Amino acid sequence: MENNEIKKEEETFSMPRIGDKAPSFTAKTTQGEINFPEQYKGKWVILFSHPADFTPVCTSEFMTFVKMEDKFKEVNCDLIGLSVDGLYSHIAWLRTIKEKIEYKDMKGMEVKFPLIDDVSMKVANKFGMIQPGESTTSAVRAVFFIDPKGIIRAIIYYPLSTGRNFDEIYRALVAMQTADEFGVATPADWRPGDDVIVPPAGSCGVAKDRMDGKDADKCYDWFFCTKKLGEDEVNKAIKK
Ligand code: BEZ
Repeated sequence: MENNEIKKEEETFSMPRIGDKAPSFTAKTTQGEINFPEQYKGKWVILFSHPADFTPVCTSEFMTFVKMEDKFKEVNCDLIGLSVDGLYSHIAWLRTIKEKIEYKDMKGMEVKFPLIDDVSMKVANKFGMIQPGESTTSAVRAVFFIDPKGIIRAIIYYPLSTGRNFDEIYRALVAMQTADEFGVATPADWRPGDDVIVPPAGSCGVAKDRMDGKDADKCYDWFFCTKKLGEDEVNKAIKK
């Protein structure tokens, strides 16, 4: 057994980790069958699970994701939702959201990204979205950030009771894309336009050399140097 697998009552659940290849799957969705990752090569994907259709926290989350979908598309990122409900439940719930729910400034929100029917829990189990300490019958609120090469780059888990922060999901995605494009790291709470860290995390000890070579604009100490990176430059590199 791989050491990232959990054996529980004779069933094996996979727990993919950051840096792993995302498990492949085909699935029925509200937008037809999808074949992952083949269909998504060259794109970032946010694969996220929710516990159940027709529940309030999940409804607020879906409406928020719809509101932000164009922002994700603009940075070459597709969204895929999943719960262990069936297709007819998904369709009825999404129709209710569009036709009936008015929440905050959101109304008539139409979910156009695919929502996976995972009644068998096949996909949820491959991604470690069923976490029995929280629930054995529904997925936790998981968010997988998968890069254009199909590698899992970040994972966030929330419990059933807590709605996710979609600004943070978008911010983290843009930070990863910026790190890839410019070979830098991003400090706490970074947003495009803020200074970035050189050299990137993991290459300790040579930061100050960068200062001497004019690669850095400011050093707080020998291990902590930053440089300016304009918002326009970031946007030009990541917006497709
Ligand atoms: C909700 O989305 O509101 C929810 C779902 C499962 C458990 C608790 C809350």
